[in-house]
Amino acid sequence: MRRILFLAHRGGTGRTLCAANCAFALAKRGKRVIVLDLDLEAGGLASVFGLSEPSPEEKPRGVAALFTQRTLLPEDEIVPLPGINANLSVLPVFVNPQAFDANRLMNNSPELFSARLLDLWRAIEELEGYDYLLVDVPSGLNDIRGTLLPVCDRVVFITRPNRQGAIGTKFQVQDIDKYGKPRYIAISSVYGVGSPNTEIRLNEFLRLAGIGANELLVVLPFDEDLSFFEEVVTLTREESPLARAYLQLVDFLLED
Ligand SMILES: Nc1ncnc2c1ncn2[C@@H]1O[C@H](COP(=O)(O)OP(=O)(O)OP(=O)(O)O)[C@@H](O)[C@H]1O
Ligand SMILES: [Mg+2]
Repeated sequence: MRRILFLAHRGGTGRTLCAANCAFALAKRGKRVIVLDLDLEAGGLASVFGLSEPSPEEKPRGVAALFTQRTLLPEDEIVPLPGINANLSVLPVFVNPQAFDANRLMNNSPELFSARLLDLWRAIEELEGYDYLLVDVPSGLNDIRGTLLPVCDRVVFITRPNRQGAIGTKFQVQDIDKYGKPRYIAISSVYGVGSPNTEIRLNEFLRLAGIGANELLVVLPFDEDLSFFEEVVTLTREESPLARAYLQLVDFLLED
């Protein structure tokens, strides 16, 4: 199973949608994919893939349940998405308050949390019948990122094309490179791709971020519909510029 972390220097960069779009596109190419949501505070994959939130009276579900109930196994909480693609499954985080139990564990006992996370990781790795594990990791420097960077195969780092994005990218990518994993940088929601002014701004961004000409880089264009509807455009509009940009990332994820 090839294990890929989706990391970002801060929140709201488009990381969740990037993971979801790559997951669908891989599934469409015949790869059996699990997308794992580890954004315990504000998981987004359940919503993107149209899962309904459990009611507060229901027992905890999804990743929060795996952290708080030791007897559960990952396969108990994996949700297949046959309506979207038979090869695609998600291990979701729901945003109703049950997710916070797991978050509290992370904040109060980080060592215990990391140990549990690695147990969960190993259990997922041992599942039969999956080719790819795509992981939506909470933004910034945190224990989840620190625990999983050593045990993943590849990283997609998502950033925004502004000054803060450039500085964040410079330092976080340097840190990621200490782990020696192949990685791709995605610059998200870029307005006016192809226009001369945008090219000038992007070059300035690359200079500030210390990104050289040989870096693996993809520019994800701003997409007005996606900004509201949070679509999986690799499913709904595969010829759109954004879908085609996501497919560049998918090629990287497929490479040997
Ligand atoms: N290429 C794009 N064009 C336009 N809007 C985009 C694009 N990518 C993402 N967005 C919008 O940006 C918002 C954040 O996207 P998303 O939820 O994927 O980001 P995130 O990094 O996972 O955020 P968070 O840190 O809150 O989890 C969403 O409303 C989404 O529709
Ligand atoms: Mg998100």
